[in-house]
Amino acid sequence: MGKDVIVACDFSSKADVMSFLDKFVNEGRKPFVKIGMELFYAEGPQIVKEIKERGHKIFLDLKLHDIPNTVKKSMAVLSNLDVDMTNLHAGGTIAMMEAALEGLTRPDGTRPMLIAVTQLTSTSEERMKTDLLINEPIDKVVMHYAHNAKLAGLDGVVCSPLEAGKVHETCGDGFVTVTPGVRFADGDIGDQVRVMTPAEAKKIGSDYIVVGRPITAAADPVAAYNRCVAEFVD
Ligand code: C5P
Repeated sequence: MGKDVIVACDFSSKADVMSFLDKFVNEGRKPFVKIGMELFYAEGPQIVKEIKERGHKIFLDLKLHDIPNTVKKSMAVLSNLDVDMTNLHAGGTIAMMEAALEGLTRPDGTRPMLIAVTQLTSTSEERMKTDLLINEPIDKVVMHYAHNAKLAGLDGVVCSPLEAGKVHETCGDGFVTVTPGVRFADGDIGDQVRVMTPAEAKKIGSDYIVVGRPITAAADPVAAYNRCVAEFVD
C-alpha cells in the first residue's frame, strides 16, 4: 500500500486554492489534494479538472448518501472527472455502497478508490444514542460500518488514526485507512479533539493522512508538507 499525505484544500475560491498550489509548483512538488464540498460547490466540477490537469492526484470528498440508483449515477459522473479517490456514507447501507461501486467503474474496468465514512468524528456516542437511536458502543458501530464497506467491495474507510489499527484487524491490512486529525507535536490542535502526529499515524498503520491547517495555515506550507512526508512516508 502506497502511503501518502493528502492535503485538505479547504478553500472557498479558485483564486485561493490556485495561489496555494502555486507555492508547490515553484518547489517542484505535486501533493495529493483533497477537494471538499466547500470548494466543489463554490467552483463546480471545473475546479477538479483544472487541478487534475496540473498533475495532482485528487480525493473528492463529497460524502454521498442517497438511494442506491441516485448514488450510482452520481458516482458515474465523478468517475468521469478522473478523480483518484472519492467517498460516501456507510450509513447508506451495503446496497447503496454496491451501487456506488458499479457507477464508479468505467467501461475499461478501472475506477477511483472508494472510501466509506463510518460515523463522523463529530458525532458523540451520546448523540448517536439520543438522536439516531443507535444503542451500541460507538467503536463497535464504526467497526461494523467498516466491515459493511468491506463486504460491499469498497477499498477502505475514513477514520480517526486511533481507529486505524482496529480497522486493519477487523477488515485486513489491505483495507485502506484514511485518517484526518493529524497535528505536529509542536503545533496547534485547533478544533480537532483526538489528534496524532504524522509519525504516530505511520506507526499505527494509517495508509493516508489528511492534513489541512497544519499545512494550509503554515507560514511555509511547502516546508510543512515536506515535514509531513518526512515523518509519515519516508
Ligand atoms: O485542518 P485539518 O487538518 O483539521 O483538516 C482536516 C480535514 O479532514 C478537513 O477537511 C476535515 O473536514 C476533514 N475531516 C476531519 N474529520 C473527519 C472527516 C473529515 O477532520 N472525521
